[in-house]
Amino acid sequence: MSSEARVPGLIQRAADRARSDGGASLVEKAAQRIAATGMPPPAAASAAPAPAAPTPAAPAVVPAPSGVETPPAPAPRPAAADDPRPPVSGRPAAPSADGGRRGGIVQIDQVRLQLAGCIVPAGERTQIVEEFRLIKRPLLLKAFATDDQRTRNGNLIMVTSARPGEGKSHTAVNLAMSMVSEHDLNVLLVDADMHNTSEHSSMGMLGVTAEKGLLNVVADPSTDLADVLKRTDIPNLTLLPAGTDVMNPTELLASNRMGQLVEELAERYPDRVIIIDTPPVLATSEPSVLAMHVGQLLFVVEAEKTSQKAIESALTLLGGCQNINLVLNKAKMEAGGDRFGAYSYYY
Ligand SMILES: Nc1ncnc2c1ncn2[C@@H]1O[C@H](COP(=O)(O)OP(=O)(O)OP(=O)(O)O)[C@@H](O)[C@H]1O
Ligand SMILES: [Mg+2]
Repeated sequence: MSSEARVPGLIQRAADRARSDGGASLVEKAAQRIAATGMPPPAAASAAPAPAAPTPAAPAVVPAPSGVETPPAPAPRPAAADDPRPPVSGRPAAPSADGGRRGGIVQIDQVRLQLAGCIVPAGERTQIVEEFRLIKRPLLLKAFATDDQRTRNGNLIMVTSARPGEGKSHTAVNLAMSMVSEHDLNVLLVDADMHNTSEHSSMGMLGVTAEKGLLNVVADPSTDLADVLKRTDIPNLTLLPAGTDVMNPTELLASNRMGQLVEELAERYPDRVIIIDTPPVLATSEPSVLAMHVGQLLFVVEAEKTSQKAIESALTLLGGCQNINLVLNKAKMEAGGDRFGAYSYYY
């Protein structure tokens, strides 16, 4: 089915669901589901029983495809027992012989990350670790599926949302951190949001500053990607910052060249998960262009904030991607509590 035909279908289903729930928005419905049960939606529960969680109200729920076992998750663990990919051999456990000279080795500020309530590799098994463990599993299954389950550019995962501040960068960073905890999995985190250079950008959250990046490669084809990639002191995490100092950055990020570059990333690093943090769909044109090139999309919905209309409008613009997953972010985990969580489900 074409994406054009499918997305209105998605929206129709969203609208039907909302109507059948007395007009509640998608967000309200999901939040009610969490509040009422603290459990996965029924389909998810039957597909993959949730692993033991630190509290009974563990909110992160993703239905894993049937037939996939859900082992407990000691953290850290030496190998990803639920990782569908063939083992990757020969990957250096430390920076390469060039000493990261081309892009330099950057230090990830893990203390800052932890203080911000984010996941750090080899950190404790907290609730957010559990949430993202469940969010990442189906993404990994699809990223490295074989045969008829294979998705084009499945290892390219774009994170976006309808409007600013809904938690895209927070989600992208946590997803990356959760994935690098799988020691045999290489992750490339791409900051494709040149509109946000604050400490809340994905690079800002990691404590990383960089002058050159994605934009520079898009603007100047003679710039080698390898020259702007940043190896990090987390051996299996590489960063591609947004980049600066180019003319017409918005046009560049929405250009064909950008699409080609993203495809090139998927081809060049087929054994790597490439997570792309983007600006909001309803504010900029880049996400809808990128959506045509990525294999998977994580659409962040802010609990009690993102309206159904915004979700529908954004999903229409993201019709180029066949695999859209919703993440309900900032859902209050307990009445009167100040903890937010992320809860994901297929759409
Ligand atoms: N699950 C969460 N728990 C606690 N805080 C969160 C959560 N998700 C996001 N935040 C906070 O909300 C704010 C906005 O999040 P973030 O910067 O990730 O949003 P964004 O969608 O990337 O915004 P922008 O569109 O401006 O780039 C940040 O202060 C972030 O730390
Ligand atoms: Mg952001």
